[in-house]
Formats: sequence, structure tokens, C-alpha cells
Amino acid sequence: MFLPVTYRVNEHGRVEIGGCDLSDLAQRHGTPLYIYDEATALDLAAQYLHAMGASGRVLYSVKAFYSPAFLSLLRQAGLGAEVASGGELEMALKAGFAGPDIHVLGNNKSREEIEAAWRNDATLVIDGDNDLDLIAASAPGARRLRCSIRISPGVRPATHDFIATGQLDSKFGFALDGGDARRAVLRALGDPRLELVGLHFHVGSGIFDLGAHRAALEVTLDLARELKAECGWAPRALSAGGGLGIAQLRSEQPPAPGEFVQGLLQVLRAGCAERGLDVPELLVEPGRSIAGPSGLALYRVGAIKSVPGVRRYVAVDGGMGDNLRPKLYGARYEPLAVQDPDADPADEVTIVGRYCESTDVLAENVRLPELRTGDLVVFPAAGAYHMSMASNYNGFPRPAVVLVGGGQDRLIRRRETMADLLSSEVF
Ligand code: LLP
Repeated sequence: MFLPVTYRVNEHGRVEIGGCDLSDLAQRHGTPLYIYDEATALDLAAQYLHAMGASGRVLYSVKAFYSPAFLSLLRQAGLGAEVASGGELEMALKAGFAGPDIHVLGNNKSREEIEAAWRNDATLVIDGDNDLDLIAASAPGARRLRCSIRISPGVRPATHDFIATGQLDSKFGFALDGGDARRAVLRALGDPRLELVGLHFHVGSGIFDLGAHRAALEVTLDLARELKAECGWAPRALSAGGGLGIAQLRSEQPPAPGEFVQGLLQVLRAGCAERGLDVPELLVEPGRSIAGPSGLALYRVGAIKSVPGVRRYVAVDGGMGDNLRPKLYGARYEPLAVQDPDADPADEVTIVGRYCESTDVLAENVRLPELRTGDLVVFPAAGAYHMSMASNYNGFPRPAVVLVGGGQDRLIRRRETMADLLSSEVF
């Protein structure tokens, strides 16, 4: 899905999302503006839930975009939450998730984070021996700490190096080679304050070829078989993490959420049958594939500069402060003009931001209809890892966010002000 399900060009020739004309949204809320389409988020959540059925749970990976209003929408749709810090745990709790519906991850958790997870009866995904040491030193919650063990499955997905996590050379999880994962399970089983329920892996993010997920599942089931033979313990839940990629370009065709889940369920069922294991509950933790296609970034064009024979720069009023991904991961986007998006494209342009760095490029050499100062451009597939990685670099306040649906828009994060920029400073 490249465009949100409610995308349409209205009778004025302008892009409309969720029944809202983008130029009207820009006028009322200003730019840059992040727009989330409720119908798309619910559609993607439903695709995951439908494919999963009663075979497991879908936990939304909060790091992709964590506005409490957006989280609350997904909670009501039936998703749980996967959080990467005490801050994200707080966001999830604010959005109304119950502790048992939240899984807490992190490769270097603090004792406070572990205690917050325990107090709130969340599941803790143990990433390393340090977690086990901290648990031993933590104030206990009312009941045993539900936990699972994260393994580093030693497979390498086809994605950008910076977002590949499951290979052996990774800071995350217990390695399978050398028996670290096995020893961690035995150690957790030996601690009476813990209730070990499962195993976890995450191979990486932005993945189109699901081979690495399948391979990781197989090696995890090998470990489960070994453990069952050795100590009689078998996982009740197995998390395959997140990682499904999205179409950032119109031409890209990632697997659909249903294919991702069905593919994993098949490997899980066949793999358990082969190894004489009961089939555990499957957990998945999608972030990008739910938030990404639901969100769009709307900018207004300002300065335009032509360098004859080289390129034409079109500067917009956002940039690397709200979208770090092009320069950090080489991510490519296909922006559209809000007015007459299907008009014949003019020459190629490079869309840059307003930040004081030459790396502040949002889309290089893209073909758009002729743009003038004051026009609006919209970037589809901008809902994941934009706002959640946004910064105040160069002293720019972060953008506002609206949720749209049924012709209505709701402000879910107000635009930051100059006062916000100074609010933590001590004079
Ligand atoms: N579960 C775990 C343990 C994770 O580490 C992640 C993402 C997810 C689930 C969700 O993965 P997703 O379904 O969103 O691919 N900032 C980078 C992405 C970093 C992903 C980190 N972990 C980006 O902008 O591409």
C-alpha cells in the first residue's frame, strides 16, 4: 500500500485524505504537518488481526509512532504494545493499554524500567545477563515477573545494515552459538521470582524478503527442542518481532501483513510438528507496516534554486528535523504535488529541507509537476520513524500532527512553540 486507503483527488484537483482537503489542513494547522489516516491504520491493524486469528497476538511496536491518541486507536482495534523504554511504557499506559498487553524490550534497561514493567504487570523481554542481574536487585511487583528471553538468531536479513539486528554481531539478545541463549533460559527458570513464558527474536526492519524471519523461526524452534529435551521447558509464546517493509515508492510491493503472518504461522506449525513440540502462541511486533502507510508529511515550498546543468533545488519548510531517514538509511520517497498530483511531471527536482546542512535532502531527483513557492507537497509513507525520531535541531519546533477520518480532522499533537524550545533550559 503506497497511498492511504482514503486517498483521492477531489473536485478541486487537490489531494484529499480521510475526506480532508490537504490545502485546507495546511491552512488551518500550518506546515510542516503530519497527517494520519485513521481508516488506513485500522485497515492495516485488521489485516494483522485477521491473519493471526486465535493463533497469537499482534503487538504494535510503539517506537514507530507513539502519540497516545494513535496508540489508543490501535488498542481499541485489539492490538497490544511493544515498548523499548520506560518512556514508551508510560505512553502506552497513558493510551490505556493494560500491563499484560505490553511487552518491554531494551538492550540496556535500567532498574527503574524493570521495576516499572514489573509494577505494571507487563512482560519483560530479557535481552542480556545484565537484565537478569538487575531483576535480582529490583523491588518485586505484586506477582512473578512474566518474561521471555530474546535470542540473537544469527541470520542476516536483506535490509540496511543500520536496521539489521538479528545477526550474530549485534548488541541485542543472547547468542545461540556458544550456548548463551540456552544458559539464559536455565538461569531464568532457576529464579522463582520469574515466570518464563517465551522466546523472542527480531531480525531487522524494512524487510521485503521474509526468508530471514523463516530461518530465525527454525533456529528458535531448534533451541526449543533442545530445551525441552534438557529440562522439560517449552515456550508458550514465541515472538518473531516486527520488520515488515512498506512501499515508500509506488513501484514497491512488499508482502501484505496477512502474508507475513500466515507465512510465519505455517513455518511455526510445520516446525513444531517436525520437532514434536506443542505449537506456542505466535507474537508479532509490527511498527512500520502499520504506522508507515497511515501517515503523510505535508510541506510548503519556499525557496527554489536552479543550478544550471546540475539540478533544481526545491526547499520545503521541514527536513531532517522531522525526517532523518533519507540520509541516515538512504530511504527514498516519492512525494506528490497536492494540487493536480497526476499532472504531467516537469523536470526532475531535488526536495531539500530548511536545515543548515547539505545532508538535509528529503528526496533526490524526483519528478513532480512544476512547483512554485507557496505550493504544497505531500510525502506518502511517512508515518513511521519520522515524528518518533524528530529533533529540534537548528532550533526548529517540531510539527503538529492531525488524525483524519470521515471528513474530520483532530489535532493529536500541537505544533511546538518557541516556549517549548526553551522549556527545559535552565538560565
Ligand atoms: N520489535 C523489535 C524488537 C524492534 O527492535 C523493532 C524495531 C520492531 C519490533 C518494529 O519493527 P518494524 O515493524 O517497525 O520494522 N529507525 C529505523 C527503524 C528502526 C527499527 C528498530 N526496531 C527506520 O527509520 O527505518
